[in-house]
Amino acid sequence: MLIKRRRGWEIPEREATPEAMFWSRRKFAATLAAGPMLLASRFASAEDDPTAALYPAKRNLRYTLDRPITDARYVEGYNNFYEFGSHKEIARAAQALKVRPWQVKFDGLVEAERVIDADDLIRAMPLEERLYRLRCVEAWSMAVPWTGFPMKALVEFAKPLGSAKYVRMETFTDARVAPGQKQFWYPWPYVEGLTMAEATNELAFIVTGAYGRPLAKQNGAPLRLSTPWKYGFKHIKSIVRFTFTEERPVGFWEKLQASEYGFWANVNPDVPHPRWSQKTERVVGTDERRPTLIYNGYGEFVADLYKGLENERLFA
Ligand code: MTE
Repeated sequence: MLIKRRRGWEIPEREATPEAMFWSRRKFAATLAAGPMLLASRFASAEDDPTAALYPAKRNLRYTLDRPITDARYVEGYNNFYEFGSHKEIARAAQALKVRPWQVKFDGLVEAERVIDADDLIRAMPLEERLYRLRCVEAWSMAVPWTGFPMKALVEFAKPLGSAKYVRMETFTDARVAPGQKQFWYPWPYVEGLTMAEATNELAFIVTGAYGRPLAKQNGAPLRLSTPWKYGFKHIKSIVRFTFTEERPVGFWEKLQASEYGFWANVNPDVPHPRWSQKTERVVGTDERRPTLIYNGYGEFVADLYKGLENERLFA
């Protein structure tokens, strides 16, 4: 874990390169030309998805954006999913992930441990669409119409004991389909965690779809987290396990480099990453650079969660 490797977001080019140059340099035009192939694979997975008829779900108008929705081509073509590579163009590789059948385990401090099929879980939950901003720690952002259900409903379903303080989430492990998992210097599986108060905050959302259809594999099908007030690395993808625990979980990035990535990871423009500023963000798919907002603009929903925790490293 102490092996120091250069990761995608350590490449200084990301800071220095304007969006348009990034895309052309990466031959993004070619990726777009391959769009029909990506679309075909996405719709193929939608066809195999027994919950496909649940989409589009009704939009919840309580959550509004201060910017246009990002074009789906970018959300589905510019991804972080290290299981499939430490760069942004993993969409094609991610198609190797088989997302049906998909079992989800609930364990740890729960009334009774259980395993449930993701489709049964999704059918049991109140699906809705929410427009959320996504702010990556690398200083880029998107605005996405996610479909899913409040994490609070999932916590109620899991029936944790009163002694549970945190929920730890874990991504699948299968190096045969996810070649990144052969890179032994990463602490697989990808893990993330929230306090119980965060997990049951109204904003915490388990995502099952986007753009009115089932979630694309590269975005973390069939279940992924969205906590829009936190940096994107908290938004764990393709979850297979929820463990309720008294111990604070150590996330994938925290395990790799605790000096740079912590447990709380709340967005704050005034707390720079050790190697770059967080003051502004590149709005992916545009030439715009916007000021970053504290809690990514969601302070009215979440600031109270952190009262009395001022001594914690809340913003890294
Ligand atoms: N989840 C897993 N399992 N593996 C990852 O590498 N990357 C995280 C997060 N979830 C990641 C993950 C990071 S750094 C970001 S910014 C978001 O996923 C990106 O989500 P997106 O590709 O849907 O935009």
